[in-house]
Amino acid sequence: MRITVLVGSPRKNGNTETLADALIEGARAAGAEVTKYTLRGRKIAPCVNCDYCQTHDRCAVADDMADVYELLQKTDALVFATPVYFYNMSAQLKAVLDRNLSYGDLDMVLVRLTCEGIKDGAAKKIVYEIVDRQESKESLTAMMRTTAFPAAIIAQMAASGEITARGCYPQEKVVNPSLFIPKLKKRGINLVIQES
Ligand SMILES: Cc1cc2nc3c(=O)[nH]c(=O)nc-3n(C[C@H](O)[C@H](O)[C@H](O)COP(=O)(O)O)c2cc1C
Repeated sequence: MRITVLVGSPRKNGNTETLADALIEGARAAGAEVTKYTLRGRKIAPCVNCDYCQTHDRCAVADDMADVYELLQKTDALVFATPVYFYNMSAQLKAVLDRNLSYGDLDMVLVRLTCEGIKDGAAKKIVYEIVDRQESKESLTAMMRTTAFPAAIIAQMAASGEITARGCYPQEKVVNPSLFIPKLKKRGINLVIQES
């Protein structure tokens, strides 16, 4: 198996790179062929949403992202190693992710959230899963579907009075899931819930 590890921390030998190196050592010991690509010092500009990649098999911006595209062509598994910056990945790594917007292939969104705890004195586990695919080469990507549809549904629910709160709230505080989830399903986005 060929693995590419993208190290997204600007700090040499920091926590991210140390953990990435441990992963690489383990993967190599298990027989994998590993390429480590450090984003520190590379010139990888943010995506400018020019849509060039929707009609060509590459990005219009010429920079070090060319190295990453080449690595992706010969990789079976991709590892993102990132520090947490304000609850998110580093800007260096986010630029790489954004620049892979379409790059010739249909995209897919996979979500799995596992919650484990105690309810009424007994152990309880709930798993939420979404698998969503791009509709077709010409149409909405899975990323578009799973971000724009929820936003549009919530705007409609606010306009129709199904959401009464006004102002800024986390979605889970003001959106009734029994109304919201069927609207997602109507658009082909299925949330599978398993309780045990
Ligand atoms: C701009 C910035 C934002 C950060 N935001 C968070 C954060 O939201 N949550 C967190 O736990 N740590 C946060 N940290 C701490 C880093 O995740 C932490 O120091 C990490 O180990 C840095 O990785 P490195 O050693 O590879 O540089 C932040 C650090 C920086 C510089």
